[in-house]
Amino acid sequence: MDALRIRGGKRLKGEWTVQNAKNAALPIMAGAILTEGKTVLRDCPRLSDISDMGEILRTLGCGVHRDGGTLEIDPGGLCGYEMPEELSKRIRSSIFLLGPILARFRRANVSLPGGCEIGLRPIDLHLSGLRQLGVQMEEEGGVIRCDGRNMHPATVHFDYPSVGATENIMLISAVSRGETVITNAACEPEIICLQEFLNEMGADIRGAGSEKIYISGVEKLRKVEYTIISDRIFAATCAAAAACCGGDVLLKNTEPSHMRLMLSMLRDAGCRVNCTDDSVRIRACDRLRGLGKIITAPYPGFPTDAQAPFMSALCTADGTTVFVENIFESRYKHVSELVRMGADIIVDGRLAVITGCNYIQGARVCASDLRGGAALVVAGLSAIGDTVVDGAEHIDRGYEKIERVFECIGATIKRV
Ligand code: EPZ
Repeated sequence: MDALRIRGGKRLKGEWTVQNAKNAALPIMAGAILTEGKTVLRDCPRLSDISDMGEILRTLGCGVHRDGGTLEIDPGGLCGYEMPEELSKRIRSSIFLLGPILARFRRANVSLPGGCEIGLRPIDLHLSGLRQLGVQMEEEGGVIRCDGRNMHPATVHFDYPSVGATENIMLISAVSRGETVITNAACEPEIICLQEFLNEMGADIRGAGSEKIYISGVEKLRKVEYTIISDRIFAATCAAAAACCGGDVLLKNTEPSHMRLMLSMLRDAGCRVNCTDDSVRIRACDRLRGLGKIITAPYPGFPTDAQAPFMSALCTADGTTVFVENIFESRYKHVSELVRMGADIIVDGRLAVITGCNYIQGARVCASDLRGGAALVVAGLSAIGDTVVDGAEHIDRGYEKIERVFECIGATIKRV
């Protein structure tokens, strides 16, 4: 079990090239099995979630090779539609393979992936979407047996704009007969990225980024080389750290248009934020101002994944910030650890009230989920004294060598 040791209080100064997006790479890796040809992903971040997804693909018979930042997936050996139970439960992203396996074999057996640290994470919307396409299902002992032999095009409506469920239906419909329309689709940038990737393979998909996505199924998809979009949550985490530690940080390889609301909030809190097409420069003020209410919502609302890192940055703000976490039901596990560092935070259900204090102190804290762990690093960077963040493996799921990122922009942080 790795830990990160941080000596707080250092101003952050310098520049860093932001990694590409984990949440774009994972559904795209699933989409790689929709063709016989190879998929090559350039500048793909080295993250445990991505290597875990690669392990599932290998288990299904695919070749998965990493060469530096390039990830190659060769689905030539794909055999069988049984998703191994142990992997399905251990790796939530395995659910993205449900649609593609059904598209290839017209059959799929998957285990209910189970919950995780931030919530129950049901898959009812994924299954509802597949049923609307005519997939028959029966559940037995935690395994869902899907039969897609009578699949048909349809208008698939989601009661909630689920990111994963939208991606699953895009994936299966890309190579299924006829035109399928998704209504109340998720609008995240990662959805647009998936549409672009599939269309590069020869798919015919339009409307991603809006609530209505049109998919005209094609016979075959071809091999592709592709570079996924920048990771907006990684960039937001670095920006939050720069904002509360003081300093001047330039983030390269970003897509500011994917971060509009988060960047305007950093301006409201007192930072100077300057953007070009592919970079964001954050110059911190002496002390952040509280931001009033921050409500997490589907894109383009405030992203739930940025809630924890922003909360850490606002612990020492001048004023109060109230978070309303509308997306996941237990995404405040980092709060108790921030309170141990001296933060003044009260949680009541989906509300977290942060009353800014003059400083927080270093402590030994424990990460219990990906974004909460990153938030503890942000807090440690701004705290007075030393912080040790246990459970760094949670952070490594979504942040490539987080200690190297912050060390390069002036922090004192080591993996121990
Ligand atoms: C994706 O998860 C991201 N993961 C999450 O990032 C992100 O927080 C989330 O979208 C929201 O933006 C990946 O892309 C790999 P949802 P996903 O389906 O697809 C409920 C991170 O830290 N729901 O939009 O699971 C669900 O429980 C991760 O990088 C159902 O009820 O998100 C949640 O409350 C965490 N039934 C809400 O909807 C379903 O069938 C949003 O889920 C599916 C979801």
